[in-house]
Amino acid sequence: MKNIKAIIFDAYGTLFDVNSAAEKYKHKIGDKWEGFANYWRTTQLEYTWLRSLMNRHKDFWQVTEDSLDKSMKIFEIDLSMKKELLNLYKKLSTFPEVKEVLNNLKEKDYKLAILSNGTPSLLCELVKSNNLDNIFDDIFSIEEVKIYKPNSKVYDLPFKKYQIKKNEVAFLSANTWDVSGGGNYGYRSIWVNRNNNIFDNLDYKPKEEVKNLKQLLEII
Ligand code: LAC
Repeated sequence: MKNIKAIIFDAYGTLFDVNSAAEKYKHKIGDKWEGFANYWRTTQLEYTWLRSLMNRHKDFWQVTEDSLDKSMKIFEIDLSMKKELLNLYKKLSTFPEVKEVLNNLKEKDYKLAILSNGTPSLLCELVKSNNLDNIFDDIFSIEEVKIYKPNSKVYDLPFKKYQIKKNEVAFLSANTWDVSGGGNYGYRSIWVNRNNNIFDNLDYKPKEEVKNLKQLLEII
């Protein structure tokens, strides 16, 4: 990939493992922890899309709690665990290779940023708790525009700030619909396909696909 000036990362599912909150609690939740974690994540995303369509914005932390409430009821998980699960969500772990790759990219001449549905304080806490404080030039949150991905106003945020061409931005996400969102906007979207999934039919198919962020170093 030539002429890339900025590398922008999605946060949840791409840098940070969204299932790691429920996984850390699996001794209490039992075998259903993974189904529960996936349901929580899917419901959380559905709420972001529905709220954007209905014009009824609530921030990502409230949406995360609302979707957790429903998921705990569906999976019959004792509601006394709610506070602890939410606390763990604030301290999600990164995927194993993330820190090394980011440090490597930091030595090169790219702008590095996060572009996420998360609130500024949630994203700051995640970055801090994973010791990534000095990596990013910017942490862009959809709270600036109060509408969720994949609305084009979100992808506008880094483009407007950096004053570079859209095709000089590499945008990485593990979420297929987010890859399409960024790609349809004009970014060079790269799909982080950690689990050998099938891509969506949403107009944009990424030209580049990596299994993890380490592979990014081979193509950038
Ligand atoms: C985010 C969600 C899409 O971080 O994972 O924006």
